Amino acid sequence: MKLLISAGPTLEKIDPVRFISNRSSGKMGYALAEAAAKIGHEVFLVSGPVSLPAPAGVETVRVESATEMSSEIKSRFHDADVTIMAAAVADYRPVAVAEGKIKKTAGNLLLELERTEDILASLGSMKKPGQILVGFAAETSDLIKNAKDKLSRKNLDWIVANDVGRSDRGFASDSNAVTILSQSGQKIELPLSGKREIAAKIISIILA
Ligand code: PMT
Repeated sequence: MKLLISAGPTLEKIDPVRFISNRSSGKMGYALAEAAAKIGHEVFLVSGPVSLPAPAGVETVRVESATEMSSEIKSRFHDADVTIMAAAVADYRPVAVAEGKIKKTAGNLLLELERTEDILASLGSMKKPGQILVGFAAETSDLIKNAKDKLSRKNLDWIVANDVGRSDRGFASDSNAVTILSQSGQKIELPLSGKREIAAKIISIILA
């Protein structure tokens, strides 16, 4: 099967030396790519800026912003049997990127932000019969309720509900604990373990 996977944060420039981003390390998405490649699938990984090496046997392209991630993902989506969006894509970016380094003044600085595209929702509306679309839901409250909402609103087949309010799971940690929900009503809990183990289980559940 052909899998398209996204990982890591996006980086939205404020000026030549400053940006908005988040704490995603890419570990979860890279572990998913590695797990799928290990069992013989063809994997294409679109990665935001992280310090991890490309997983063995995985064609990897590195991007910076949500706009770049969107165009890489969309250009390959039609060819993918399974797409998993594990990336933490920025929801907002600065309306304007300053050409030079913004100088500090005595007063406050107001930064105007605009919405980025919701890539996963776009994929949900482009999805053809037979394609499997998987999202993550990173939540600090009402985990299952919010994940179910994203599952239906973005037209997904599966969503991985990820509690990101604790230090032993979610962003940057080596371990994770998730609940996988399907469009058809399945609910599978994966208790705290290494991201590699969690990734292997997610891949086997989705591909089954
Ligand atoms: O990278 P690690 O340090 O290993 O951490 C893993 C992780 C916590 C980043 C990962 O497991 C995770 O939860 N990824 C999703 C983070 C996120 O952006 O969640 P969200 O609930 O805000 O978004 C829901 C879904 O929409 C996600 O699949 C996201 O990729 C997608 N999205 C979000 C915003 C946007 N503009 N476009 C999108 O496609």
